[in-house]
Amino acid sequence: MRIGVLTGGGDCPGLNAVIRAVAKSLMRQCGAEVIGIEDGFAGLMDESPRTRALDWRSVSGIAHRGGTILGTSNTANPLRSPADTERTLANARALSLDGLVVIGGDGSMSIAHGLTAHGLRSVGVPKTIDNDIMDCERSFGFDTAVATATDGLMRVETTAMSHSRVMIVETMGRHAGWIALEAGLAAAADIVLLPEIDHAVEAVIAVCREREAKQRYTVICIGEGAKARGADLTVQSRVSGSPDPVRLGGVAHVLREQLQPHLKSEVRATVLGHVQRGGQPTPFDRVLATRYGHHAAQLVAAGRFGEMVTLQGGELRSVPMARVANRQRTIPADHPLLVTAREIGVSLGEG
Ligand code: F6P
Repeated sequence: MRIGVLTGGGDCPGLNAVIRAVAKSLMRQCGAEVIGIEDGFAGLMDESPRTRALDWRSVSGIAHRGGTILGTSNTANPLRSPADTERTLANARALSLDGLVVIGGDGSMSIAHGLTAHGLRSVGVPKTIDNDIMDCERSFGFDTAVATATDGLMRVETTAMSHSRVMIVETMGRHAGWIALEAGLAAAADIVLLPEIDHAVEAVIAVCREREAKQRYTVICIGEGAKARGADLTVQSRVSGSPDPVRLGGVAHVLREQLQPHLKSEVRATVLGHVQRGGQPTPFDRVLATRYGHHAAQLVAAGRFGEMVTLQGGELRSVPMARVANRQRTIPADHPLLVTAREIGVSLGEG
């Protein structure tokens, strides 16, 4: 058996731990030959596919490393045109691939699902710091991102206290507020603004003013996809042809402009950006990534292509990729963490 492995979309802490677990499980259990595809789907779409053999040695000693040893791309899409699809399928035939393990987010799952329908059978592994994959309660990488964002929030808090400032910290997460909510709670932020709840700027001003009078400083955590009522998303750039054409970023600066005229304290904004995606995965993410990789290899061995491994109720399971493709899991309005935040006095910017 010859199985290809690729990492698609943005990088994420834990990718190497998945690659290692997939490759080692397939080699040990099935005697499979494992082929790494370089730079995500881009490496399979090129005129000459870019691959490297993943033997025991090459996947050893990588579980703790950030990024992906294979490289990735978040713009390559073999389904963009019939010619791209045909070349990708021809490359997979030339490589004698019996299947593919695709480690990626909702966009990559959509591509993997499409290729499976064309005969290139895939198994998926859910990857994203955003934790927004459907039917998956924890994607690997999220725990590390929350730890980094929490650290960032707590570091700016000392400046907020020392200078009696309002400090705004923007987290990643696209249209889902999981990172902002968990990091905001972990760092005891005073205000947490989420993409799922459009905030009232007046309500945010009121909390800051009250704190100016009593505690003298305020820490605000805002998800990059958050917006004020009636406002548009803050878009940093657009990438044509990408499965994810809109790059978000900068809403912290927009909020700073809105708050400053109404407050005595100085208001400053920090965008955490890609530090949340980098660095070593936490032990939790290494273990989760290893479990996912091992489980994906079991699906391959059982011939259960077209499925994505997932975590539900703390148990490893699998769901059809079709259910996950191009769908995002945002925070439901009745999520217990929202109730907890409100009841302990964290403002969610609701008017
Ligand atoms: O999906 C992961 C993520 O880090 C998002 O949180 C963020 O909006 C996006 O990727 C940034 O992508 P890029 O690195 O392409 O700017």
